[in-house]
Amino acid sequence: MKASNFLKENNAQHMWHPMAHPQDSLQNPPRIITGASGVRLQDVDGNEVIDAVGGLWNVNLGFSCDPVKKAIASQLDILPYYSTFRGTSNDAVIELSYELSKFFEPDGLSTAFFTSGGSDSVETALRLARQYHKVRGEPGRVKYLSLKKGYHGTHTGAASVNGNANFRAAYEPLLPGCFHTPSPYVYRNQFNETDPAKLAQLCVAAMEEEIAFQGANTIAAFIMEPILGAGGVIVPHESFVPMVRELCTRHGILFIADEVITAFGRTGAWTGSRLWGIQPDMMCTAKAITNGYFPFGAVMLSPQITDVFENDTTGAAAIGHGYTYSGHPVGAAAAIACMAETLRLDIPVNAGLRGTQLFEGLQVLKEKHEIIGDIRGGRGLMAAIELVSDRTTKAPLDKETPVRIQDAIYNNGTMVRVSGPNIIMSPPLIVTEQDVQDMLGAIDSGLSAAVVS
Ligand SMILES: Cc1ncc(COP(=O)(O)O)c(C=O)c1O
Repeated sequence: MKASNFLKENNAQHMWHPMAHPQDSLQNPPRIITGASGVRLQDVDGNEVIDAVGGLWNVNLGFSCDPVKKAIASQLDILPYYSTFRGTSNDAVIELSYELSKFFEPDGLSTAFFTSGGSDSVETALRLARQYHKVRGEPGRVKYLSLKKGYHGTHTGAASVNGNANFRAAYEPLLPGCFHTPSPYVYRNQFNETDPAKLAQLCVAAMEEEIAFQGANTIAAFIMEPILGAGGVIVPHESFVPMVRELCTRHGILFIADEVITAFGRTGAWTGSRLWGIQPDMMCTAKAITNGYFPFGAVMLSPQITDVFENDTTGAAAIGHGYTYSGHPVGAAAAIACMAETLRLDIPVNAGLRGTQLFEGLQVLKEKHEIIGDIRGGRGLMAAIELVSDRTTKAPLDKETPVRIQDAIYNNGTMVRVSGPNIIMSPPLIVTEQDVQDMLGAIDSGLSAAVVS
């Protein structure tokens, strides 16, 4: 490693950071993380903090997961790369596809299309949805529906179904034919509805109205996260996703579950779809599939989709889509080991228990800190604190205070993520009761320090 003064001098000088203003990165240089073990990070100044971000929703098994590290190292020795484009394959990816088909059987998904990450997975699902309808003789179904506040990555297709202007406005015009309907966000919604079950019905009714307006026979697919993550951990009422699934089925619209953060246990269930008791037509996965140690993803497809493609005799089902790194053998080896370890640890159990502890602890902090407008979570290890300047009016905060709070929490021993007005937490799913207690303590002290100063 280069000396710390070199790192500090050159930090953000020769690279642009995703999701940051280049000028801001220059003026407020990013934290330099130089090591990690278990659920803790070490920075260049020798500080050690709990990583309540879990990498970026992906390091579910922590930073010391030896089975995944060893699988990567040994695969690099045996076969560091080979493509899966037409005519070739590799042993690791065949084994992984078999394991995934077993893992996702309860979700009604049987076949994988491999990618290099979450945005790739979303792009793949969107493209295959259009092709599916063309192959089965409804070429007019080309539009997409999604939820406002949803996050689906940053490829042009993915950004087009994204429901947050921050990821869209600078890159317009985006893909035509993408339409957004209200999300079941109880704290703020256009209906002024505070009852989650009633709000779910209103949102579904709005979606139904949009389908009627567009014409169901023009819509290829609807995409949503089972719990909206980056948009601020918006947990729908339990009736919402089943109602949406039914609506899609009734109108011949494919239901794409974007489970880039919820697959593999984060919600306290093995998948977000299983949490809500539905089966999607396609599921986007990435992130925790390799514990974040290798960029990799998979779109899982239901037999309804694969039958149409596999039984085509016209040639229309030939797939003109894929990535150089689709089915990368090192990623596949990492995923095989990661899935085995995730299953061995029965990881959703701890995610559920510690998620409840975190959620209840945050509710207690809300009693104490006026700046907290809303606490969201309660379904596994994903939670958000929405900060406001005035609880009664729900007036938003200035931009600087959340960043100051994030710094103060860090100085008290925990890394959290700030996204707009939200402090977002998605720690590794192996955190202990003590880790969660320490995280809550750091958030409490950080809020007190930052709000007073
Ligand atoms: C639900 C969801 N979909 C897609 C993505 C995009 O994934 P990536 O950043 O790996 O492209 C993310 C990333 O956070 C996500 O949370």
